[in-house]
Amino acid sequence: MEKILIVDDDEPIVESLKFAFKNQYKVYLAYNSEEALEHYTNNEISVTILDLKLGNEDGMELYSKIKDMNPEAVVIIVTAYGTIKSSIEAIRSGVFHYLTKPIDIKELEFLIAKGAEVNNLYKQINFLSAESREKYIKDGIIGESGSIKSILNTIEKIKDIDSKVLITGESGTGKSLIAKAIHRQGNRRHKKFYAINCAAIPKDLLESELFGYKKGAFTGALTDKKGYFELAHGGTLFLDEIGDMDLGMQGKLLQAIQENVITPIGSEEPIVVDVRIITATNRDLLNLVKEERFREDLYYRLNVINIHMPALRDRPEDIVPLTNYFIYKYSRLLNKEIKKIEYDFIETLEKYELNGNVRELENLVERAIALVEGDVLTKKDILSHINKDEKSETFINKKLIPIFVGQTLENIEKKVIESTYMECNYNQRETAKILGITDRTIRNKLKKYIEQNDKNQ
Ligand SMILES: Nc1ncnc2c1ncn2[C@@H]1O[C@H](COP(=O)(O)OP(=O)(O)OP(=O)(O)O)[C@@H](O)[C@H]1O
Ligand SMILES: [Mg+2]
Repeated sequence: MEKILIVDDDEPIVESLKFAFKNQYKVYLAYNSEEALEHYTNNEISVTILDLKLGNEDGMELYSKIKDMNPEAVVIIVTAYGTIKSSIEAIRSGVFHYLTKPIDIKELEFLIAKGAEVNNLYKQINFLSAESREKYIKDGIIGESGSIKSILNTIEKIKDIDSKVLITGESGTGKSLIAKAIHRQGNRRHKKFYAINCAAIPKDLLESELFGYKKGAFTGALTDKKGYFELAHGGTLFLDEIGDMDLGMQGKLLQAIQENVITPIGSEEPIVVDVRIITATNRDLLNLVKEERFREDLYYRLNVINIHMPALRDRPEDIVPLTNYFIYKYSRLLNKEIKKIEYDFIETLEKYELNGNVRELENLVERAIALVEGDVLTKKDILSHINKDEKSETFINKKLIPIFVGQTLENIEKKVIESTYMECNYNQRETAKILGITDRTIRNKLKKYIEQNDKNQ
């Protein structure tokens, strides 16, 4: 059970909160700073709910002490003195959220659940210890998901045998990485690994690239040239984007891999080759077979072992470890010291539609590290590089706020405006744009909220 700590000097409130949450959480109570710090130190508290007005004590001071002990502490501030201004200042200094009294239990419940999630995220963010980093860097394949584990397991089984491997999956999912890993881990590792992108080499050149040619075989063939099959002898040939190979070449490839023999262009003498063949494609080969654009016999020859790389959206649990790894990688490469990663940095990446898969995630992290000011990564470091429209659609819409039946429209409007304002890093103009209202309206509304809060004090 997750543990929460409630700090308030008002006994009836504390008791009623305990009653409200005792079935979901292990609840610790504190009526003053001293008790609060004691609970905080001795128990692994996920979320702290702190009333700013603590008898004669200053809740903000207690808050600072907790944050000194644990900069990642998730604290929800409750206050009767909730002017937007002071709350915003509080949030700027790392408060997770604030609530004004009287407490809406449902809203608090929502915030605690969210806070517990954030707390878990923090725990994972810096999980890469020095030893595990070394391990990761050696293998180069990061992933916690069942699918990555099962792929690693398959690699282990097939690394030393020569069965042909077809790696499928969307662009940027790690197909090339896996091909290299199979070679590096297998018993051909001391021999050459060549990767040939069949889509990048012009149709007419592919044959001579793969099989080589004899001097004088065609105009421009001034000397003999070895093809990749010969160069990779004893090693591995990785044919990437195999789906883009034209039909004529497919026939020649089929012959070569069936007989383990190639004939350079312009030569009469076949050469025996010993090459492990790994292929990859982001296209649907079976469909190409149906359309008669890919030879069926070749398809079955190549697809003895199929490794399918799932898209990142289908294995979201890999995003945190991958992000950790890329932060580590690029902070070293770019010589930047990153001291802290805010949970919203990871949260933003988790919500982002990473259609470019791992490659896109890697680029976003590299760019954030290259351009970060200071040594803390926050969601701003991702957001500021993406255009506004994309941003409002991708992020703002996905952030939830609790709205319950029976609230006044004015109240709901206030919640939407305040939380969008926070999401926009307190930028009025941007908030207005996203909400589709004028700068003037937003200015007036925010002013009104501050006045209302002042009155409630
Ligand atoms: N599981 C992973 N762990 C660490 N890095 C990864 C992982 N998967 C992919 N990457 C990195 O993401 C980038 C893209 O991966 P890769 O080039 O292997 O993808 P691909 O599927 O071959 O893409 P394409 O279809 O465009 O050729 C590379 O920099 C790679 O190192
Ligand atoms: Mg690739």
